[in-house]
Amino acid sequence: MRVLGIETSCDETSAAVVDDGPKLLAQVVLSQADLHSRFGGVVPEIACRSHVEMLSRVVEQCLREADTRPADLDGIAVACRPGLIGALLIGVSTAKALAWAWDKPLIGVNHLEAHLESPVLSPDRGPARSIEPPYLGVVLSGGHTDLYEVHATSRSRIGATQDDAVGEAFDKVASVLGLGYPGGPRIEKEATGGDPKAVKLPRTLLGPDSLDFSFSGIKTAVLYQWCGQNGRGSGPVEGAPARADLAASFQAAVTDVLITKVRRALDQTGLDRVVLGGGVTANRYLRQRFETELADRTEQLVFPAPQFSTDNGAMIALLGRRLLEQGERSDLFLDARPGT
Ligand code: KG4
Ligand code: ZN
Repeated sequence: MRVLGIETSCDETSAAVVDDGPKLLAQVVLSQADLHSRFGGVVPEIACRSHVEMLSRVVEQCLREADTRPADLDGIAVACRPGLIGALLIGVSTAKALAWAWDKPLIGVNHLEAHLESPVLSPDRGPARSIEPPYLGVVLSGGHTDLYEVHATSRSRIGATQDDAVGEAFDKVASVLGLGYPGGPRIEKEATGGDPKAVKLPRTLLGPDSLDFSFSGIKTAVLYQWCGQNGRGSGPVEGAPARADLAASFQAAVTDVLITKVRRALDQTGLDRVVLGGGVTANRYLRQRFETELADRTEQLVFPAPQFSTDNGAMIALLGRRLLEQGERSDLFLDARPGT
């Protein structure tokens, strides 16, 4: 079954075509990072305008690269929740128009569930990796830090962020440290020259059994270290730690918390497989520590290839394809939703 996937939930305009295997035939990802960087974060109005301008061209280019005519498609999948509502609506309206014009089945998919599909794609377009439930699904993105217990026919969320999502914390700390947007990759780069033990930062674990997350405390702690106790200046204040040390210490503290919570979740559920997805999983320090420190506790630990960590059309096409194969369909009343 050959499926076109469309992703516009935030600041990437992306389309991909996936076929049996599952095999990725082509993917186009247009990042808007340059448009948003001077504002220090995603500006929804700018994101929407850019999606409107670019999506048709992105879809056309993707079909061309996949050597696929509309008639060759067996369905169209689109991210319809969660995300920026205006941005989602552009993908959903486009997918509905194409499904109607080309007379193809339509399927709306959950963007977070789609992140957990991305590890099946091999980085070099080789054979797909096999990932069978049950497993612990870990979504580490700009808007979510979620733990899911995933079984063949059901999925339940067992942990979530209570304030800032992990990617949001990376972005805000990068902004405090004057590293700009997007924050995650810039913190990672800065941290390579720093000492992860140099600055003492809090590791908020909530209750002893809690699987939820809170990253607002560590964000404030970095702010105080860099800008002084009133946190109002632009920093660095006199006596502030070196920026690289602060970035490395932040990255280490966040990774400590994530590993502790994943261990807890494995203990509580009895699961021994972990599947990760979301932009923060592109972080090489985090990947390496997960692989080393959870090796004793996991049968299988799978990250997406880095190019499929951040938002992409392939994961939408993959999940849509699976749902279409199971007989699910959306109708032309499909709507976008900002929440899960
Ligand atoms: O999954 P994603 O592309 O979009 C959402 O669904 O939110 O995740 C974007 C987030 C941003 O907060 C970005 O800073 C973070 O992923 N990110 C990273 C890295 N690359 C992207 N965080 C840490 N290290 C990275 N290398
Ligand atoms: Zn995402």
